Amino acid sequence: MKSQDIRKQFLEFFKSKSHSIVPSAPMVIKDDPTLMFTNAGMNQFKEFFLGNSVPKSNRVTDTQKCLRVSGKHNDLEEVGHDTYHHTMFEMLGNWSFGDYFKEEAINWAWELLTGVYKIDPDNLYVSVFEGSEDRDKLGLDTEALQLWKKIVPEERIIYGNKKDNFWEMGDQGPCGPCSEIHIDIRSEEEKAKVPGRDLVNMDHPQVVEIWNLVFMQYNRKANGELEELPAKHIDTGMGFERLCMVLQNKKSNYDTDVFTPLIAEIEKITGQAYGRSEDSNVAMRVIADHVRAVAFSIADGQLPSNTGAGYVIRRILRRAIRYGFTFLNTKEPFIYKLVALLSKQMGATFQELKSQQSLMENVIREEEASFLRTLDQGLVLLENLMKASEDRKISGDKAFELYDTFGFPIDLTALILREKGFTLDEKGFEAELKKQKDRSRAATQVTAGDWNEINQVEADAFVGYDQLEAEVKIAKFRKVESKKKGEMFQVVLNKTPFYPEGGGQVGDRGIIMSSDGEVIDIIDTRKENNLIVHFTKELPKNTASDFKAIVNKTERAKTASNHTATHLLHQALREILGNHVEQKGSMVQSGYLRFDFSHFSKVTSEELEKVEKFVNARIREQIGLEEQRNISFQEALDQGAIALFGEKYGDSVRAIRFGESMELCGGTHVPNTADIWYFKITGESAVASGIRRIEAITGEAAMHYFENQTEILDEIKSGLKNSKDPVKAINTLQEENAALKKQVEGLLKDKAKNLKSEFRQEIKNINGVNYLAKKVDLDAAGIKDLSFQLGEELDDLFLLFGTEQNGKALLSCFISKELVQQRDLNAGQIVRELGKFIQGGGGGQPFFATAGGKKPEGLNEALQKGESFIK
Ligand code: SER
Repeated sequence: MKSQDIRKQFLEFFKSKSHSIVPSAPMVIKDDPTLMFTNAGMNQFKEFFLGNSVPKSNRVTDTQKCLRVSGKHNDLEEVGHDTYHHTMFEMLGNWSFGDYFKEEAINWAWELLTGVYKIDPDNLYVSVFEGSEDRDKLGLDTEALQLWKKIVPEERIIYGNKKDNFWEMGDQGPCGPCSEIHIDIRSEEEKAKVPGRDLVNMDHPQVVEIWNLVFMQYNRKANGELEELPAKHIDTGMGFERLCMVLQNKKSNYDTDVFTPLIAEIEKITGQAYGRSEDSNVAMRVIADHVRAVAFSIADGQLPSNTGAGYVIRRILRRAIRYGFTFLNTKEPFIYKLVALLSKQMGATFQELKSQQSLMENVIREEEASFLRTLDQGLVLLENLMKASEDRKISGDKAFELYDTFGFPIDLTALILREKGFTLDEKGFEAELKKQKDRSRAATQVTAGDWNEINQVEADAFVGYDQLEAEVKIAKFRKVESKKKGEMFQVVLNKTPFYPEGGGQVGDRGIIMSSDGEVIDIIDTRKENNLIVHFTKELPKNTASDFKAIVNKTERAKTASNHTATHLLHQALREILGNHVEQKGSMVQSGYLRFDFSHFSKVTSEELEKVEKFVNARIREQIGLEEQRNISFQEALDQGAIALFGEKYGDSVRAIRFGESMELCGGTHVPNTADIWYFKITGESAVASGIRRIEAITGEAAMHYFENQTEILDEIKSGLKNSKDPVKAINTLQEENAALKKQVEGLLKDKAKNLKSEFRQEIKNINGVNYLAKKVDLDAAGIKDLSFQLGEELDDLFLLFGTEQNGKALLSCFISKELVQQRDLNAGQIVRELGKFIQGGGGGQPFFATAGGKKPEGLNEALQKGESFIK
């Protein structure tokens, strides 16, 4: 069975059990401070489990793109070395939100595996949670046990501990006991030797977990305690790639049709065959796995970068590059060449791979080229370290410097040292690494306390599209603390006019005022897992009071102006540069706007001018805002709305139209384009390969910009004696200046010619050296010229010239090459020594060197000392 069909059958099976099929959420997470990437199918449903939001349908099924490379679930180091772990993988799942529970989940899982997929039940083992003695004091999951006993013989049921059979997403959040289904795909011979039961959860590559059924019934609080969830839920996750391995009768995920095309392409590019040596096998698996992780992230809008999620992506890609570099001998970018295949293979299920193909290719190629340069430099540095070492040992801190400052991978360092018979102080390296990790952890760690519920009110309605003030109550608050921002409070209101940061637009600021007049500043507003949280430095004295929430109106108006201008800019770019332009990021605040988009070359100044004109024309047309708040996603697209990749849209969306510009957008806008007043581009630059950035201002900021420009122009005019035509005046000045320069150059040349014949007469022979030391009136270049000309005409020459220019002293020393050798003279050393008379220093070559200083009065003394070097 093809992998495509396996995926389809899973979804169809649960559809037949009244589940709605929903799309995968983006793999890159944008509004959850505790998680960078989707690491399980349940992430997007967390709020339903916690009871913070109500789902439209209480039974859903999907295939979710997941990435397990950081935090609690991190498989990165295993990937490639074994045959069944991945960074990016698909998780097939079915969910019940307060609907069915253990019985249906268990029975359906069994029906699908053995009835539909026809897996031999004799190859399956199941596990149940045995309970725990620790502070949680949880008992054996007898309910699951009884249910399984009805289906499988008891000897196939395994009792698992907390590590294996109690699933938690992270340190906090929904969790519960689970039942895993494991499969034994070894040969009959092997099975006879060791029973499969003994190999479950023992990291055996052919006795692996394929499906995890989680019975969500608790929430882990910040203080570590468990609380019962308001309702019980089902969360199941089956590794799609492993399921393919089983159903396609393979012994490795990489032998399924999910990976074989990629591996074949790597073989073709590198000219090496998969299966030849363990090292190259690992490298091919690493590359085939990692290219998926990186491509899917870029398609979701996360580019490799130096911080946060972008850094994780960069590290994954670099891991692939260095495995290729070391074991497949790839010294040129090549991983980007796999993208076309990947997009062909998976583009039907994940459309973003198709539409983002050229961006993914460009970004990956550029990253590869730059990291390959790093590797080349690193090799040279490592070579130098080895040369400098006396005991064939490289210390931990030197290796760490290579790793940290120059980005050279430590395993490559270790490998090269081993090959060359050197040893690496690995303990020392680990210690340095730990120190650095502790430092950055301390710097970024945010600790959140538990929520204090204040008023039993429905939390959270956003009313800020229609009003900037509202009568509100505090629903709950909690304390958060980070090294960077110190102690703060997050406050959730029953409803709020404050816009939470999102869609590139900053969060609103303002105040909340209690009924007895106490004013608390709201310094930021964000969305965390669907909750709108307001940040304050202090809490009101009476949190139970009624409050008036008031948004800072001036800031909001400026931000709205910039946001609407962003939409018009987007429209203008597509109009003028072409429809390949796609938004790749934006930042809208009160002061300015920034817009990143895909485009292959620099936007020329003519194009920028056209873009500006286009936007300003829309402003002058005074186009009114047309907002549709609850339109279906499909209808919005049919009307021509632009949606962004990597954004998660619900079934009903908000569409913002200004004339021909229509976008799906949650942000705030001006009622009419005329309110923008004027749009001015202030910068155009590159963000990454194939991605450009435009920065711009509107309204008041644009006005200040023009005021400032006018002031500069006035100053220029007055400097030009109020010429009526300053441009012409400047051109004339420039022409005059060029003519004068030419004249001066000619005069200086004549002067140097005269000086040369003068100096030849002054040169004295001292101890067989043609010696001259004197002050001259020439600039540095003139002196150098003259010295070398004299050097060509006379042998055994020693020249020491001093000059004063703009209050500074310059010494220069020329020594014929034969003198340098015979008398062991060195101009560099000489100017350094003489530099002290002019309070300065310098250096250069043994035959020519210069020194500058800030004490011209010392020149005479320095010149007098010249003779001492040849006596
Ligand atoms: N949340 C569970 C897991 O990720 C089941 O989906 O394994």
